[in-house]
Amino acid sequence: MRNYYIAGNWKMHKTRAEAAELAKALAAQLKDGKHKYLVAPTFTSLETVGALIKGSNILLGAQNCAPEEQGAHTGEVSVLQLKDLGVHTVILGHSERRHIYKEDDELINKKVKLVLKHGLEVILCVGELLEEREARKAEAVCETQIVKGLAGVAAADLGRITIAYEPVWAIGTGKTATPEDADAIHAYIRKVVEKRYGAGAAADLIIQYGGSVKPENAAQLMAKENIDGALVGGAALKADTFVPIAKFG
Ligand code: PGA
Repeated sequence: MRNYYIAGNWKMHKTRAEAAELAKALAAQLKDGKHKYLVAPTFTSLETVGALIKGSNILLGAQNCAPEEQGAHTGEVSVLQLKDLGVHTVILGHSERRHIYKEDDELINKKVKLVLKHGLEVILCVGELLEEREARKAEAVCETQIVKGLAGVAAADLGRITIAYEPVWAIGTGKTATPEDADAIHAYIRKVVEKRYGAGAAADLIIQYGGSVKPENAAQLMAKENIDGALVGGAALKADTFVPIAKFG
């Protein structure tokens, strides 16, 4: 039985004071929530938010990390520094990292392995561009991103991997994949994982959907067999919209 996992990606939003206000509201309002929850503020707010959600049922996430442990890497943040701040999970391969900052599957794979090596969890994001969907390549794109992203990851570590299927054309656009379309890709992703890691690991894998998830569409998406949660961007920036998603149904 898979537990639902709802994560909020705050992207490059909020000062520490603003982040603190949201973290306090979420800790109070999700206290009786039944699912697994995570918030991923910017690096600069991790310590503030971490202190406010400590002891709550909300985990602390980071939005990225460097592919190396330490060294001369100006502007980068190491997984060791994130661990030191109490970070539980690192989001890797987000489409904004892939497409704006040109991160490729090899770089993302290096980060995945480093985060796992240091005992943290990973949310690995995959998803196709609009032209790839129109060319009927959505499944192939997701398969490549998963196979390359998880290259060298041992079966024993798969329990610390969550996959987030985020069609790029649905992120921040207000357009959502239909629950049926999303579920079909999720089912395909589960097959890709089954081929490499076996039926048990595939059955246990949490696959989140991301891309314009809102209070109005969360329940229909979650009702699908292969949709096990959500990675939420815009609607994660306010308690008024994140809490109803987190408590969908
Ligand atoms: P969105 O972002 O909910 O604003 O579409 C989702 C994401 O990028 O994780």
